[in-house]
Amino acid sequence: MVSQRVDVLVLGATGYTGKLIVQYLESHPQRDQFSLGIAGRSLQKLQILSKELSLSSDVSIFAFDITSYAEVEGVVQTASVVINCIGPFFKWSTPIVRACAHNGVHYVDINGEPLWMKDIIQGYDFEASNTKAIIIPASGTDSVPSDLAVYLSARELAKKRPNASIGQSLTAVKMPDSGLSGGTLHTIITSIEEVPRHKWSDSMIPHMLSPVHNAVEVPFRMVWNLPHTNIYGGISPMGSVNEKVVYRTWGLLEARALSTAHRDRKSIRYGPKFQYDECAEAYSRITGLLWSVTFMTSLVAIALLPPVRWFLKMFGPQTGSGPKHYDGAIMTYTNVTSTDAPNPDHVQTTVTFKGGPYSMTAVFAGESALALLFDHDKLTNLAKEGGVLTPMSALGDTLVERLLKSGRVSYVTKPLYPKDTRKTA
Ligand SMILES: NC(=O)c1ccc[n+]([C@@H]2O[C@H](COP(=O)([O-])OP(=O)(O)OC[C@H]3O[C@@H](n4cnc5c(N)ncnc54)[C@H](OP(=O)(O)O)[C@@H]3O)[C@@H](O)[C@H]2O)c1
Repeated sequence: MVSQRVDVLVLGATGYTGKLIVQYLESHPQRDQFSLGIAGRSLQKLQILSKELSLSSDVSIFAFDITSYAEVEGVVQTASVVINCIGPFFKWSTPIVRACAHNGVHYVDINGEPLWMKDIIQGYDFEASNTKAIIIPASGTDSVPSDLAVYLSARELAKKRPNASIGQSLTAVKMPDSGLSGGTLHTIITSIEEVPRHKWSDSMIPHMLSPVHNAVEVPFRMVWNLPHTNIYGGISPMGSVNEKVVYRTWGLLEARALSTAHRDRKSIRYGPKFQYDECAEAYSRITGLLWSVTFMTSLVAIALLPPVRWFLKMFGPQTGSGPKHYDGAIMTYTNVTSTDAPNPDHVQTTVTFKGGPYSMTAVFAGESALALLFDHDKLTNLAKEGGVLTPMSALGDTLVERLLKSGRVSYVTKPLYPKDTRKTA
């Protein structure tokens, strides 16, 4: 049984992304206010990591065997907040969520696996709400930026039209071509090979993680144009994950609004007509279409042709490695959200992130964990009730403030006017 206690514990700290998160936390301006622990399966690798990153001597080290639930629970119980980076999540991480839900330990992770998120919602949402554990999966680049961009647009629209439902919300993602980490590639291939086929049909349902199921259908597209802008897009590689998290945020807020006798005035609500979609920003309709065809062809080849997967396993990035951090890189998420007809209002929110997808994952997961540790009183009412939530449904404005304060995130929100009404608006 482990006896030290830590405020924030990073599980899978020896991995490519876990290491970025440890670095981010170790150099955080609030570092002298929290204790930090790192955990993984190899004590030797953890000690090497500690030396390599010159971690302060008070950083606790925990080695544990993930196949022993008693050991997982022993490690989790030492922490106030766990950040979990052990993937593929569907293969290894269920016992960690179980231990957090059972022991009332707050949890964030960086998974991008909706089918696994469905399993943990079904398995542990109830217990987490009993113990008041706040469980926030998908707190990395999947899916904080998408969840954030929609939230910011909705918040802005609610100022002008507090009682209107949102209609359409569409995000165009622009990110550097940084490549994948070995862990991400391994997770994609392992999911294709090991997740049972009958589960995959669920992933075609955008609101599969939502507690509310009357979502308005969004038609399948290969090319997008953000309303009232010249921004075009093709298929977003992460869109099918992000849409499910955004729809879970929508569904959690909707379910709460419908069940709260005295309307929770502090809570934001997207409303019953909400529709979400996401694309990868392209220069034009034609490049958007070309990108979509290329992406779909590659995906089908990886899914259906074992030799392609063998080639990627042999010659792609290996676990523990990943792209250089692209600290000079910029990612932008442009969202256009409109209230439902008639006479819709439109808002455009552009969120800019200073960093590539992996270095930004460290910022998102790190700040989410610190919000759970330091800002409990400022969290949403949903968070205070515990359960398996989403970044924005749990952390709301608190995460917005923390991300702005990190200096790595900024955003601009402006009203949009359709060309024919511009003069009179
Ligand atoms: N959604 C997002 O935005 C996002 C961003 C980044 C990463 N991810 C996901 O996060 C996961 C990690 O990615 P990564 O690039 O950091 O991968 P990685 O470098 O391969 O790291 C994986 C980590 O998991 C640990 N691990 C693996 N199997 C284990 C087991 N059986 N028992 C204990 N520990 C085990 C590894 O420990 P060892 O060091 O001992 O091998 C390592 O610490 C992947 O699933 C990836 O898809 C998602």
